[in-house]
Amino acid sequence: MEIEMPWVEKYRPKRLVDVVGQKNIVERLQSYVNKRNVPNMLFSGSAGIGKTSSSIALAKELFGEPGFQQNFLELNASDERGIDVVRNTIKDFARTLAFNADFKIIFLDEADALTSDAQQALRRTMEKYTKTARFILSCNYSSRIIEPIQSRCVVFRFTPLQSEEIKGKLLEIAKTEKVDIEPKAVDAIIYVSQGDLRKAINILQGSAFMEKKVAEHTVYNVSSRARPEEIKKMIELCFKHKFKEARDLLDKLMFEYGMSGEDVILQLYRTAMDMTEEELPTKKKIELVDIIGEYNFRMVQGANERIQIEALLAQLMKFG
Ligand SMILES: Nc1ncnc2c1ncn2[C@@H]1O[C@H](COP(=O)(O)OP(=O)(O)O)[C@@H](O)[C@H]1O
Ligand SMILES: [Mg+2]
Repeated sequence: MEIEMPWVEKYRPKRLVDVVGQKNIVERLQSYVNKRNVPNMLFSGSAGIGKTSSSIALAKELFGEPGFQQNFLELNASDERGIDVVRNTIKDFARTLAFNADFKIIFLDEADALTSDAQQALRRTMEKYTKTARFILSCNYSSRIIEPIQSRCVVFRFTPLQSEEIKGKLLEIAKTEKVDIEPKAVDAIIYVSQGDLRKAINILQGSAFMEKKVAEHTVYNVSSRARPEEIKKMIELCFKHKFKEARDLLDKLMFEYGMSGEDVILQLYRTAMDMTEEELPTKKKIELVDIIGEYNFRMVQGANERIQIEALLAQLMKFG
């Protein structure tokens, strides 16, 4: 069987205009390209929202295709071979001249995974090559980056993508790939991916692989998530003291969808937070968060998942 290229790669933006959302950031990056002047930068934000893609698009526009191959280096700071390998790779890359440009660009992913000692070393490396290299550091939390690095970088905060932005991209890809997708399935992908476009595209590809016409249930199957209504129903069954039915539903979620205990708890939390004042008054919500937090903690500590969730369901019954 032919192995298909992952759609996340196939549809990775090639130019800055292809980057979805992040409007202010993209505008500023475009102005750097126009002036051919790029500062060191720190990109912070959650996964799958365009940090790597924006860096690649910037470099492609700045250097053109052949230049991009030679002048752009993508590295992961948390390379298991250690920070020395990372630094040596940077050194080798930065000491040769850029092709048709004044500087090269080094994109360092997961910079916040580095210890502060390693970050100090990185800072010295950055200083050493200020003339010939620009750094783009990517991280989930800028607060985990040491101050001396932050102050040497222009900081850009990427935000999770809006539903409409995700939807636009999904429909565009579905059209090109000739995937027939129901509107409800699109909404389901948006619900499950929570602003993460990489996740959204992967779920679309996984669902399309399962069946040519993508339906809502396929999306939940592929992503090991329950429909929000199913979780809500489980909560309501508990409120109504229907423990057996609630357990049966839990079985279905865990066995049919392959959800882990933690998946169930996280979704329970989300669903409870989304319930209206009438369905669950704020005061009770707060109590519930407390309880969910407790059971989540126990599970992370290694207690039996199934037992913990059933115990949590029993607790929910007190809310009815
Ligand atoms: N803002 C975006 N615009 C267009 N595509 C995106 C965007 N964010 C994510 N993607 C898609 O998801 C994939 C992963 O995105 P990436 O830029 O690597 O995310 P990050 O670096 O923030 O984790 C890309 O290849 C692309 O297909
Ligand atoms: Mg990335």
